[in-house]
Amino acid sequence: MKVLISDKLSQQGKEILKARGIEFDEKTELPPEQLKEIIGQYDGIIIRSGTKLTKDALAKPGRLKAIARAGVGVDNVDVPAATEKGIVVMNTPGGNTVSTAELTFSMILALSRKIPQAWDSLRKGEWKRSKFAGVEVRGKTLGIVGLGRIGTQLSQYAKAFEMKVIAYDPYVSPERAEQVGVEMVELDRLIRESDYVSIHTPATPETRNLINRETIAKMKPSARIINCARGGIVDEEALLEALKGGKLAGAAIDVWSQEPPTGNPLLELENVVATPHLGASTKEAQDNVALEAAELMCDFLLTGRVRNAVNAPSVDEKLLERLRPYIFLSEKLGSLAAQMLRGNLQTLEVTYSGELDEMDVAPLTVGMLKGFLGHVLDSDVNEVNATSKAKERGLQVLVSKTSKSEDFASLVRVVAKSDAGDISVAGTVFGKRNDPRILRLQDYHVDAIPTGSLIVITNWDRPGAIGKIGMTLGNHKVNIADMTLGRKKAGETAIVVLNIDGDIPDVAVEELERLVEVIDVKVVHL
Ligand code: NAD
Ligand code: MLT
Repeated sequence: MKVLISDKLSQQGKEILKARGIEFDEKTELPPEQLKEIIGQYDGIIIRSGTKLTKDALAKPGRLKAIARAGVGVDNVDVPAATEKGIVVMNTPGGNTVSTAELTFSMILALSRKIPQAWDSLRKGEWKRSKFAGVEVRGKTLGIVGLGRIGTQLSQYAKAFEMKVIAYDPYVSPERAEQVGVEMVELDRLIRESDYVSIHTPATPETRNLINRETIAKMKPSARIINCARGGIVDEEALLEALKGGKLAGAAIDVWSQEPPTGNPLLELENVVATPHLGASTKEAQDNVALEAAELMCDFLLTGRVRNAVNAPSVDEKLLERLRPYIFLSEKLGSLAAQMLRGNLQTLEVTYSGELDEMDVAPLTVGMLKGFLGHVLDSDVNEVNATSKAKERGLQVLVSKTSKSEDFASLVRVVAKSDAGDISVAGTVFGKRNDPRILRLQDYHVDAIPTGSLIVITNWDRPGAIGKIGMTLGNHKVNIADMTLGRKKAGETAIVVLNIDGDIPDVAVEELERLVEVIDVKVVHL
């Protein structure tokens, strides 16, 4: 396993990689062409915000399976392109929350007391005390747009300074807002009432230019805007106009629509405080995110465990331990259904019953899709891209849960509906040994091991049928490892499922098909 570190990473992260036996190369500031050429030689890549993993950079992914972003924002990664290639994208939220919230509050104070401007003037030999008279923050209203990790942390600092805090975040529940102790308001009210408007949302199409000419026009002329989130959320042209025209008292900017903001006219203004994207630039934050990114990468490459993924379900370790045998079973059931299917698939119905009713079954559905699509598609299907590949093909996947589960503690059932009829398969995991079993094939009750090569034979339930099947296989030196029989009614149709060692030659399949007792033969590989 080998990892590429393509942005400057704190030593602590590198120590983790070494300790866990993962080799790495550190190559920073690679030109895009060079990055594209070498990226496929690595199993994983650890980045900060400098590396741009565009669709083009990911065009030849080779061995690449994972991207770990030491930081929060993944706007420098083309996540849909990574997903399409089956590459998991993980980030390290939380590690730089305090640093960014502290920078934001420093910005509020620096703006209010004009600290950078005063320092600059003093260095020029001036002594202009009245020019740099400021305002207190106590009693003022801070409007937080985006009450996530950083917004919440900032609200606590503001309260300690006796500010009134209001927030706008359409995705925060009233219970959460109450816990944080912040009044939630509509954006319009926040804009009109705040003395300071601080942005803490992600950069999304929805938040692009969220603060624009129209919103700025509603703000108090004494108000100040702070953006330590992402460039582009505040319309820089509109901001410039307002600051120049006295429609706003000031702005503090850490993040820019283009970084570095070379030649940006906002940098010329007296009422602007600016930093070069320093939110997470503290020793503590860099150690935190490097350590976490390295751990995420090692866990994924060494154990397959996915955490903090933005394009795959993340599951708690304990739950994953419990789910692992069911994920395995679901993948095998998906694969079995795909191989048994005839005609054009219309819908996949998955039902989780019994104990599974209580659990997060998303990883099981992903496993089932991986197993199913792995037999249908030409390209590689894995846990990361299975869901998006199903969507791309317009495959309807209907998932349901029930606490009732026939005779078993739990059951996973997959029904693949096609224009040529349905295929229904179901299974469970037995006991403490985590023994996965196929228990239903169509309406037949069976008990088969879902691994290796299986022969599924539908036959007439007549004396001697099983003997003839066994004899045919024996003649072709096919060894039966396990066998299960199922029938609905004596003398009617029945099913035989055989686990065999190795494979079965085509000629043996043809001979089986010619037996008068045999209706259908299917060979599946699980
Ligand atoms: P977070 O995911 O914890 O919080 C984001 C919040 O924004 C969420 O509560 C979400 O509900 C809310 N939100 C989403 N869309 C919204 C909308 N349209 N209107 C209002 N609220 C909306 O993220 P975080 O860790 O708090 O990070 C916040 C921002 O700060 C991100 O953009 C992140 O990239 C950036 N960041 C910058 C630096 C820096 O160096 N300046 C460092 C860390 C994070
Ligand atoms: C982040 O998204 O974590 C910050 O912007 C810091 C960084 O760019 O690394």
